[in-house]
Amino acid sequence: MTWFYDPRRTYEDNLAAGPFGAFLGEPAPVPDAPPGHSLLGRPLHSPFGIAAGPLVNAAYCAAAFRQGFDLAVYKTVRTGHQESHPFPNTLAVHVDGDLPAGGSATVLADSDLDAATSISNSFGVPSRSPDAWQPDMADAVAAAGEGQLLIASFQGTRRDGGDGDAYLADHVAAARLVAETGAPVVELNLSCPNEGTGSLLCFDTAAVTRIAAAVKDQLGDVPLILKLAYFADDAALGQLVRATAHVVDGYAAINTLPARLVDAEGAPALPGAGRDIAGVCGDAIRWAGLDMVGRLARHRDRLGADVAIVGVGGVLAPAHHLAYRTAGADAVMCATGALLDPGLGSAVRRSASS
Ligand SMILES: Cc1cc2nc3c(=O)[nH]c(=O)nc-3n(C[C@H](O)[C@H](O)[C@H](O)COP(=O)(O)O)c2cc1C
Repeated sequence: MTWFYDPRRTYEDNLAAGPFGAFLGEPAPVPDAPPGHSLLGRPLHSPFGIAAGPLVNAAYCAAAFRQGFDLAVYKTVRTGHQESHPFPNTLAVHVDGDLPAGGSATVLADSDLDAATSISNSFGVPSRSPDAWQPDMADAVAAAGEGQLLIASFQGTRRDGGDGDAYLADHVAAARLVAETGAPVVELNLSCPNEGTGSLLCFDTAAVTRIAAAVKDQLGDVPLILKLAYFADDAALGQLVRATAHVVDGYAAINTLPARLVDAEGAPALPGAGRDIAGVCGDAIRWAGLDMVGRLARHRDRLGADVAIVGVGGVLAPAHHLAYRTAGADAVMCATGALLDPGLGSAVRRSASS
């Protein structure tokens, strides 16, 4: 089966020529009933959709809405052009059971995508320049039908020689550019390396607190969601929620879990420097997403905070959507699951209305 984002093609090819496969097929039926769910005050037919990544432009977002995914996240953009890591970016990852957090696991990765339930994601967060993505993002916003919601993802970029203030200013500039497109909800990807260090920005509570406040100031009434990686340290997670829950409108978790990817000979599976450890998503990380959502919900409840929680990670079937809702998620999103099963949006819609 050809995936709607085709990992056998380069990122640039997918951007120029996609979507493919079932996303070009018959649309899902439009629900008869009015939207019965909501996220951040926006009505939804189902609280389910596609997380940041596979929907690389407005054509993909529009197709996702047509296929019955009621939430669509426009892939993370930046304030300037950034190349993708070299091809390939997405391989099948053969994990036996749950992938441990922390990046210590070594796993086989290859191009046998037809049988995959977990995959790699090694793109380096490419972006077009704002001149190209701003009008396209506005088209994506307009593509949402009744009971559907476009969420715009962005992240800051640390330019060579830039300090913490420049990094913060880049976040604010990106937020302004995104808000100019009319995006009704914005997601800030914090699961990226912090100022060139190996550790992720979301683990630096002081930096996140400053950045979130400045971005929210720029956005005004537009709801802001923080996209987090998996926190093994629950005290650190609690500290982050305490420091930001009065500023932001929600949290989305998780991004990928890191692992060392090797080929059948034990050599790095992905070409190029710095890519021996890459992000893994899909079935093998669901445990971590569910664990994070459960703990986020506990921190939220303890604080009495009015924030939404969006559960992400390993949702491949309607039962996984339900597990996230039971763990405390207000809405749920998938990336791998939609690639493997483009009918998953419709299936969750049916299960959420029964
Ligand atoms: C092809 C692909 C590209 C992705 N790109 C981004 C991205 O640009 N920004 C982001 O925040 N997450 C990105 N992600 C991570 C997903 O949003 C999600 O957090 C992760 O894949 C876990 O969900 P899953 O198990 O359903 O795939 C990407 C994932 C995939 C599969």
